[in-house]
Amino acid sequence: MILEDYIKKLRKNGKITTVSRSISKNLEIAGVLKTLEPEPVLFENVKESEFRVAGNLFCNKMQISDYFGITTEQIIPTLANAIENRSKPEQTENAPCQEVIEEKVDLDKIPILFHNKVDGGPYISSSVVVAADPEYGQNLDFHRAMQFSKDKMVTRIVRGRDFHKFLERNGEVDVAFCIGNTPEVLVAAATSVETGINELEIANALSPIRVTKAKTVDLMIPADCEFVLEGRVVLDEKHDEGPFIDLTETVDVVRQEPIFEVKKITHRKTAIWQGLLPGRSEHKILMGMPREPTVFKKIKDRGIDVRDVYLTPGGASWLHVAVKIKKKNDDDGIQALEAAFAGHKSAKHIWVFDDDIDIYSDEEREWAMATRFQADVDLLIKDPEPGSSLDPSAEPGTKMTTKCGFDCTKVLDSKGKSFSKAKFPEVDLKKFLGD
Ligand SMILES: Cc1cc2nc3c(=O)[nH]c(=O)nc-3n(C[C@H](O)[C@H](O)[C@H](O)COP(=O)(O)O)c2cc1C
Repeated sequence: MILEDYIKKLRKNGKITTVSRSISKNLEIAGVLKTLEPEPVLFENVKESEFRVAGNLFCNKMQISDYFGITTEQIIPTLANAIENRSKPEQTENAPCQEVIEEKVDLDKIPILFHNKVDGGPYISSSVVVAADPEYGQNLDFHRAMQFSKDKMVTRIVRGRDFHKFLERNGEVDVAFCIGNTPEVLVAAATSVETGINELEIANALSPIRVTKAKTVDLMIPADCEFVLEGRVVLDEKHDEGPFIDLTETVDVVRQEPIFEVKKITHRKTAIWQGLLPGRSEHKILMGMPREPTVFKKIKDRGIDVRDVYLTPGGASWLHVAVKIKKKNDDDGIQALEAAFAGHKSAKHIWVFDDDIDIYSDEEREWAMATRFQADVDLLIKDPEPGSSLDPSAEPGTKMTTKCGFDCTKVLDSKGKSFSKAKFPEVDLKKFLGD
């Protein structure tokens, strides 16, 4: 789907705030997005650019499940199914993202947001990067990119990512940074699947998409995105990258990262720039949610009746995991913890809950821990091992950290103790208060 059509739908349902007054891409747009989060916002009058900007579009699981027309609990099976049953997208010659092919590359013309005073420059934070390798074929990743001239950016490429593998093998790689995507492409790009799997086929299995050939590089790109920046990333041509506010909302250090030279810009005629607040909920949900099916599968493979998995926003949607199971054996909770750690190596703390607990509610999770957890038997402390590079408390360099899990499920033999919330009478308020 074209982002503009989705925004029209939000507008019709009164689910988006429109800012028609003049606003700057420097700090002001980010400030409004942060203040109104998780409400979607469309900025119609950006001081420095002819293009509109939209942000906060997919800040939580509800917004994403609404987009797909499913419930939040159906997200994991839907995503797992799309990863398993990938399908080839339709190809088109008439791509909306190529309605306009800019003669000259001038990044100053597009509203690349300067999010925060501490940032090293304006950043693209929502771009899905398409790259290819002669052996593995195409891959989709997210890579932030900081603008430092009219046609050059520096892009953060974490070691171990598929794109980094491509760069190490080839030295320089043609790319297409695609901005302005809907959740099938965003979520597919954020999955970490086997190298060689083209995530555009996962996107197509989530909801049919169209692809088109990029103009100057040999890549197939999502045809319905808003902007495409085509060019080349060279591993050994480096520039300062950062500072930047990353997933944990702390400031990431300045590193020497590869330069992305932009050679062609294409876009829709009435293109909308997709803003994404670094470190905030949209960044978190896109980072964490695609890991949930992997954790789910690992627990299921142990023979445990797992019902749902949620990488909680308070844990930066990366370091903390809440798991819901239907307990059948006394050790299901501890077993589920072990399996969940195997499914997400960056997890530091994991909680397992019974199926009567709403794992999306902070209060319910805390209540279950308060009333069902005993540290001497329900706590799993692992030997130190490498965790997430994003955790400031992990040992710098080695990422060594101590992981622990909390089995917050009730014992199967309750020995007369009450573990369920008492029910209050249900009344029809109209009977006592009137209409
Ligand atoms: C919004 C967002 C921004 C991200 N930014 C970066 C980034 O700047 N650099 C990076 O290496 N990974 C970044 N990531 C993470 C990876 O792109 C992501 O985990 C991806 O699934 C890795 O795919 P791969 O396994 O195909 O390499 C980001 C993820 C999201 C959702």
